[in-house]
Amino acid sequence: MATVKENLQRAIELTESDSPRLDLEVLLCHLLGKSRAWLYTWPEHQLNDDQQADFEQLLKRRIAGEPVAHLTGSREFWSLPLKVNRSTLIPRPDTEVLVETVLALCPQDTVRLLDLGTGTGAIALALASEKKHWQITAVDTMPAAVALAEENRAVQGFGNVQILQSDWFSALGGATFDVIVSNPPYIDTQDPHLRQGDVRFEPVSALVADEKGLADIRKIAAQAAGHLSESGLLLVEHGWEQGKAVRNIFSEYGYKDVETRLDYAGRERITLGRT
Ligand SMILES: C[S@@+](CC[C@H](N)C(=O)[O-])C[C@H]1O[C@@H](n2cnc3c(N)ncnc32)[C@H](O)[C@@H]1O
Repeated sequence: MATVKENLQRAIELTESDSPRLDLEVLLCHLLGKSRAWLYTWPEHQLNDDQQADFEQLLKRRIAGEPVAHLTGSREFWSLPLKVNRSTLIPRPDTEVLVETVLALCPQDTVRLLDLGTGTGAIALALASEKKHWQITAVDTMPAAVALAEENRAVQGFGNVQILQSDWFSALGGATFDVIVSNPPYIDTQDPHLRQGDVRFEPVSALVADEKGLADIRKIAAQAAGHLSESGLLLVEHGWEQGKAVRNIFSEYGYKDVETRLDYAGRERITLGRT
């Protein structure tokens, strides 16, 4: 048995983590059902035998590389606590740039928006939390991801979001939208990062695309124009070295006003264009 403080002093065991102290705090909060403020208020609180045994298990799995979000089963995105699992991507902070960009470009109260490859529902639900009157459709091809997004939608109680299983546009018939957004798979199959960090525990279906990572972005750009209203907006997230290639794809399919926005690290991350 150990105290909260003693357990928080075990950061040295998490040699591969970029944020060992934070990892320990999040795991302890999850285990004890307490906030980080509580951990700092009660450093001498002693874990009971069961709690300590559970903590040792979590720590062992974290040392083996499992993402903290998989150990706790949740990740915050746009201040929404989202359930996560192995069926899809753990939402990343950089994707909030996509949400911010959509909100900045679309001040209207009524917008028909489509989120392609919704995963946990992160982008669709973040937008729904800001825009109660937008009609939001979110699709994913993986049934387990569709179920996860629907669970997250129901927890938030957003009645203006519809989650569907669809291979990109296949289940959407002739539906049209004012805005189409996507954070699709965009990692090249040969990228060495696939063997590092959290992505080792995330599914290939959420990460990897052919054509040096650009195949899904190309499919989306090719088909989105037929589902966008006049002057409709397409925005996709992509790798920080793919900006030029994605702008070229957008131009190839006739999009206008094509531009790329930067992420929080100042790297090219979101490309957008209009029909
Ligand atoms: C990079 S993840 C993004 C998840 C979520 N939108 C986010 O930003 O956290 C890509 C998602 O696209 C989905 N996906 C892959 N191929 C698809 C397809 N052909 N049609 C629809 N969704 C697809 C994957 O299952 C995965 O959930």
